Amino acid sequence: MMPENAVQSAKDTILKVEDLRIEFRIGRKWYAATRNVDFELKADETLALVGESGCGKSITCRAILGLVDEPGSRTRGSINFKGQELVGLPDRKFQHIRGKDLAMIFQEPMTALNPVMRVGEQISEAITSHMQVSGAEARRRTLELMESVRIPAPEQRYRDYPHQFSGGMRQRVVIAMALACQPSVLLADEPTTALDVTIQAQVLSELRELRERNQMSVIFITHSMGVVAAVADRVAVMYAGEVVEVAEVETVFKEPRHPYTQALLASIPSVESDKEDLQVIPGQVPSIVDFPEACRFAERCPHVMPRCRQEAPPRFQVGSTEVRCWLYESENGETGQ
Ligand SMILES: Nc1ncnc2c1ncn2[C@@H]1O[C@H](COP(=O)(O)OP(=O)(O)OP(=O)(O)O)[C@@H](O)[C@H]1O
Ligand SMILES: [Mg+2]
Repeated sequence: MMPENAVQSAKDTILKVEDLRIEFRIGRKWYAATRNVDFELKADETLALVGESGCGKSITCRAILGLVDEPGSRTRGSINFKGQELVGLPDRKFQHIRGKDLAMIFQEPMTALNPVMRVGEQISEAITSHMQVSGAEARRRTLELMESVRIPAPEQRYRDYPHQFSGGMRQRVVIAMALACQPSVLLADEPTTALDVTIQAQVLSELRELRERNQMSVIFITHSMGVVAAVADRVAVMYAGEVVEVAEVETVFKEPRHPYTQALLASIPSVESDKEDLQVIPGQVPSIVDFPEACRFAERCPHVMPRCRQEAPPRFQVGSTEVRCWLYESENGETGQ
C-alpha cells in the first residue's frame, strides 16, 4: 500500500482485524479454527464476509464482540475498534461496547428474542440497558424504530409476542433491537437466510437504507455471492478459517483472484434461484482438526503447485485486491505474513 493511502485508510478505518487466530482445545490439543484473518471495516461501508458453512464467519464475529469466551477457547491477534484493542478486553469493559456501539444480529432470530416478553418491551429494554432514558422516551424511540424497519402499525404490534410475528417481521424486530442504541458497527450474521426470497430482498434493501440513514458500518455475513452483490461495498472471502481475498465488490465479480473465489462465483446459478450449490467445487472443506499447515485450499485447487503444499501463502497485493495465493507471487506486492 502507498504511504499516502495508509494515512487515508487509517483515518477512515473503524475496525481493523489483524492476524486473528481463534483456537479451540479438542482433547489435549489446540486447533486454530481461524488464522490469517485480516480485514478492515471503513466508516459507512458494508463489508461482506463470505464463505462456505464452517469456514469461521460466525466465530470471527463472535470474537469481535468478545463472545468467544467458553472454556477451551482462546483468541489471539488484534481487533482494533476505534483505537481500542478488543482482544483480551475484560468482559466488564466489553459490556459497555456490546449492544451499544457494536451491535449484532445473530444467525437465528428466535434466539435473540424472548418468547414470553412483548416485542415492544424487548426493543425498549435494548434501549434502556445502555441509555439513561425514561420509560416513556424508550417507548417513543421503540415506536420510531419499529417504523423505521417497516413494521406496520407499531402501536398495536408493540404489545404482541414474537410468535405472533411472521419470520420476516421477526427479523425486523431483531434488526430494530440491534439499532436501538445507534451502533457505529452492525454485525449481521446471515440475517436473511431463514426468509423466503422476496422477503429476503426486501429486508436486504431496507438494511442498506438503514445503514445509509444511520451512518453505520456493517459486516454482513453470508454464504451467497448473490447476496454479496446486493449488499456489499467490499468483500472478504473466507476459506477454512482464513481470509483468502479482500476486494471491492465490483472487482471481485470482474476479476476474482483466488481460485476459491473463482469457484464460488462459478457456483452462482445463471437462473434466479435461492439454491446456490457450493458443492460444485470438487472436494470438501477440511475440518479444523485436519487443516493443513500450508495452503488450506490446495487439495481442491485446480491450479495447485508443489509450493502450495509446503508453505502457507502470505498476502499479495494485486491492484486493489489482497489475496493469499502463491499464483500472485510474481506480482510482487507482498503486504503481510
Ligand atoms: N466451541 C467450539 N469448539 C470447537 N470448534 C468450534 C467451536 N465453535 C466453532 N467451532 C468450529 O469453528 C469452525 C467455524 O465455525 P463458524 O460457526 O464460525 O462457521 P460459519 O462460517 O459461521 O458456518 P455457517 O455458515 O454454517 O454458519 C467450525 O469448524 C466449527 O466446528
Ligand atoms: Mg455461521
